Amino acid sequence: MTYMTPFTTWIDLKDGTIPKAASVQTQQLSDMRGLFADRQAEVALLAQNPLIYRVYNATNNAKEEGQLLYSTTVIYPGEVGDEYFMTKGHYHAKGDRAELYYCLQGEGYLLLQTPEGEINAQAMAPGAASYVPPYWGHRTVNTGLSNFVFLAVFPADAGYDYKTIAERGFAALIVAKNGQAQVVPNPNYLARV
Ligand code: F6R
Ligand code: ZN
Repeated sequence: MTYMTPFTTWIDLKDGTIPKAASVQTQQLSDMRGLFADRQAEVALLAQNPLIYRVYNATNNAKEEGQLLYSTTVIYPGEVGDEYFMTKGHYHAKGDRAELYYCLQGEGYLLLQTPEGEINAQAMAPGAASYVPPYWGHRTVNTGLSNFVFLAVFPADAGYDYKTIAERGFAALIVAKNGQAQVVPNPNYLARV
């Protein structure tokens, strides 16, 4: 038996970055075309192409059963129309894989939905440990004025299904109404038949 060597990854708690990250993914608005509900606002804002979020992947662990992966996500503050900056959102390719999000900074929501379109929204602020149960699609939304930062820990073989969300969207949007976050139905949502 060859044992893997234990290790520690340091997260900079000032800004949620992982200085020695194995990899970093940057998502600008142009990487998220069609995901925001207000298409006109999206097209108008594309001229500036703002940075929406970054993911700092802590490790290169093998993507196999038994291993974990973990990362921090930093979502910057802003809105497209009245919809807050958010992640693309995904189901896990292996749908039965769960995940834990732990909020480090800022305020926002974990928005979840079942494949049948049932919605659940968990408010997050520093200290919130929010559970993504098996089979729930998930997206995070920054509803504050500063960066929204959380740590995600998930099975290394979970994988990503982005296509379902890209094609059908989420059944709910999180929008600013008089400066307050509100969960409202998504008029563009394409329910499964
Ligand atoms: C991994 C996970 C998070 C997200 C990250 C970015 O399963 O849920 O690490 O990958 O918050 O969101 P997406 O992947 O939707 O762009
Ligand atoms: Zn996930």
